[in-house]
Order: sequence, then structure tokens, then C-alpha cells
Amino acid sequence: MNDVQPQASHQGGPSDRPQDEDGRAVLRNAGARRVGMAIVGLGGAVATTAAAGLELLRTGAAGAEGLPFARLEQQVDGLADYDALVVGGWDLDAADLAKAAEVHRVLAAQQLASASPGLSQLRPWAAVGDAEFCRNVVGGNTAVAEGRRAQSDVIRADLRRFRAEEQLDGCVVVNLASTERWPDLDEPALATPEAFEAGLDADDPAISPGMLYAYAAIVEGCGYVNFTPSLAGDAPALTTLATMRGVPLAGKDGKTGQTMFKTVLAPALRSRALTVEGWYSTNILGNRDGLALDDPASLASKLSTKGQVLDQILGCPVEDHVVRIDYYRPRGDQKEAWDAIDLVGFLGQRMQMKVDFQCRDSILAAPLVLELARLVDLAQQRGQGGVQEQLGWFFKAPMTTGDGVPEHALHRQERVLLDWLLGDDATVLDPAAAAASLQ
Ligand SMILES: NC(=O)c1ccc[n+]([C@@H]2O[C@H](COP(=O)([O-])OP(=O)(O)OC[C@H]3O[C@@H](n4cnc5c(N)ncnc54)[C@H](O)[C@@H]3O)[C@@H](O)[C@H]2O)c1
Repeated sequence: MNDVQPQASHQGGPSDRPQDEDGRAVLRNAGARRVGMAIVGLGGAVATTAAAGLELLRTGAAGAEGLPFARLEQQVDGLADYDALVVGGWDLDAADLAKAAEVHRVLAAQQLASASPGLSQLRPWAAVGDAEFCRNVVGGNTAVAEGRRAQSDVIRADLRRFRAEEQLDGCVVVNLASTERWPDLDEPALATPEAFEAGLDADDPAISPGMLYAYAAIVEGCGYVNFTPSLAGDAPALTTLATMRGVPLAGKDGKTGQTMFKTVLAPALRSRALTVEGWYSTNILGNRDGLALDDPASLASKLSTKGQVLDQILGCPVEDHVVRIDYYRPRGDQKEAWDAIDLVGFLGQRMQMKVDFQCRDSILAAPLVLELARLVDLAQQRGQGGVQEQLGWFFKAPMTTGDGVPEHALHRQERVLLDWLLGDDATVLDPAAAAASLQ
């Protein structure tokens, strides 16, 4: 991942890429900023897919399909290239990423074979976990540190070492760990940065592992992304700390499949005055994320982030909005999500709509993770600290500043994001061009 070399091609299919004498695609943007992605949950399905994707892009074995901002690379000053992303991170499981990716069965055999030489070089750093917060996922690769202060010190040291060894210009911590149960954000230790510091010293059980990683990121000046439903950077102590330190925070819970389509369909139904009488959403999945969600405490976190979007978009509560997630092993990462929507139209006549999305969970999530790392790094270069509301497009439960109500409708989130990314240029883009640049 380190051998960035000078040349000037643009991303695209293999044929676009110049090659060195060994036949490896040569990376563009030599000497450009190198941005570390320090991933919590590095051995997971999403993280290994993201790391493999970078490897396959790097060797020219994959093009930019599914990467929403590939086409904007040349228009946005300071947006890091995919080639410039350097992967590292923690996992409770010590397996190298080639072995981990094989277990997840997301990649095709040929893709796994091509990415394996690079992936096998990546071994997760020892992690900080707590079965009190995530019961169904345990592992032996744990940091030797007693108490929350010592654990946060270990994470901070990892980040400093990563920056130095990889000669990084920027670094973003991305939370892709298993879903934790929700802690009580009203606990005194989570209220202010000072209380949080005291809580670390006192080993206060209100502080979750997810919060330790978020805290370490902020104090080490690394941007932070929470792609999980866990409450991590959300603690008031940490949002305040991030604002004080000028560190960008983005989250939470990636909006990849069922919820993404919900936030596309619901605005259309509202626009045509079709009343949503009920919306029944159910999912089956059999990956390790599904196993983590088989614990009722972790499941409650996920259902909460998935459940919030409809009422805000429709402007009234949908009493019969049901969301279910079931762990079903045979399906692995190939999640299936069904929606049964009951509508009332003109003259009180009833209608139904069914959506069946047979998706690939990690294939939808991994490109968003890569884009988030680039955009949070961009926000940091632009001097924007604290919660990054313009990145709400990526999330099921977008973080907001203060008591703000999040925007959930995808088309409005897209407008806000494009305005932030492109500034004045966004206003001259016609909607079709803007949409195309996001496809
Ligand atoms: N795939 C999607 O479409 C999608 C969408 C939104 C959110 N998410 C969330 O992203 C996260 C990752 O999903 P996944 O499918 O890769 O899950 P996964 O179970 O495959 O991976 C999670 C990894 O985190 C590790 N882990 C658990 N606790 C840890 C800790 N304290 N420190 C370090 N590592 C730890 C586990 O060992 C595992 O390897 C989940 O929280 C999931 O809910 C996924």
C-alpha cells in the first residue's frame, strides 16, 4: 500500500492505467497527501471488502463502478485519491485480511486471489472490547491494558505509530465494529469533556469501547466516522471535544439498502399525497453482523436507527411502521430486504406496494466507507470541526448539531452534500448532471 509512484492517469478501468515494469498499475498523484483509514473492526465483512476494493483498484483489476464520487475527483480541490488511502486498524480477531475476507465470502474467487497478496500483509492491531456492550462477538486479539484510561492510551499510541510509520498527511478513524448496545447518554461521565476525562480515570462503565476509539481519534486529531448504529461519537462530551479541537465527526449507521430506498420512496409518496397507512420492513441476513444483531441489546440499537426516518419525511407518525431483522445463516452477506407498504389514495381507496431488494450488504457499504474517509479528510483540510451535517446523505441516523432534527430525504441530502462539495459549481450543475455525478 505504500509504493505511491509518480504519474498522471485518472481512475477508471484497467486499460486507463499506466503500468510499471512489473505490470502493476502505477498510481496517480505521487507525492499527494496520504490519508490513513484506521478501521475499528478491520477484519469484518465491510472493512475487508473496502480494503480488497482498494487493492483491486490499485492493481487495475477493478474500475470505479459503485463509487459515488469517482467522477468528482478532478473537480474538488484536496479530495484524496482512492490510491492515497492507507488501511490499518483494530479487530478482536487476529486473522490477516486475506484469511478474514475468505471467511466472509463477499469477494468472487478471482477477486480474492488478486487481492490476497496485499490483504495478507494487513494484520489487525490488538483491540479494545467489552462483552457488556457486545455479547455475541468475542475474540482473543485484545490489548493488554487495564481500565479505560490505559485502553484509550493504547489506541492513541496505535494512531501515532500508524501516522509515523506510514508517513500520513491525514488520518480518519472509521468505526466498522460490531453493533454495541446503546449506553445511556445521560450518564454524568458523558456530559462534558472534563467529566469524560474523569470517567476514563475512574474506569466508568458508562464509557463504551466505541467511545474510547472515538475519544482517541479526536485527541489525536484524526477525523472520525461512525458507520455503525452504536452510540460512540454521539456522547455530548465527545461532540463538544471534537468542536473544540477542530476535528470532524460523521455518523451514524451507514444508509446502504432498505433504509436508503425508504428515504427515496417516502418523499415521492408524500409528494403525491398518498397516505402511508403502514410500512412493514423485514430483513434476513447471515453474516457476522447478523450474528451480532441476534443479541437483543445490539438489535435494539439497529432498530432504533432504522426506525427514525419515515415520520420525519412524511411529517406525521406512521403508527404501523414495523422493522424486523432476522439472523438466517444460509444467506451470509447476501441480505434480502422486503418492504410491504400500505397506502391510501383518492376517495380513500387502498393500494399496496412491495419492494424486494436482494442485495450484497458489504458491496453496498464498502464504497461508502471509502468515500466517507475522503470526505472527512476533506472537511478536516477545510478546517471544519465537530459534527458534519452535510454528510447526512450517508447515514440512517444523521448526527446533527445541537437539537437539530436530521434531514432524511435522500434527494435533499444530496443537494446539501453537492453544495458543500462543489460550492458555487454545484449551483451551475443541472440536476441531471448532479445526479449523474453521484452515480
Ligand atoms: N453492511 C452494511 O450494509 C452496513 C450498513 C450499515 C451499518 N453497518 C454496520 O457496520 C458494522 C460492520 O458490519 P460488518 O458486516 O462488517 O460486520 P462484521 O461482523 O463482519 O465485522 C465487525 C468486526 O468488528 C470486530 N469487532 C467487534 N468489536 C470490536 C472492537 N471493540 N474493537 C475492534 N473490533 C471489533 C469483529 O471482530 C468483526 O470482525 C456493523 O456495526 C454494521 O451494523 C453495515
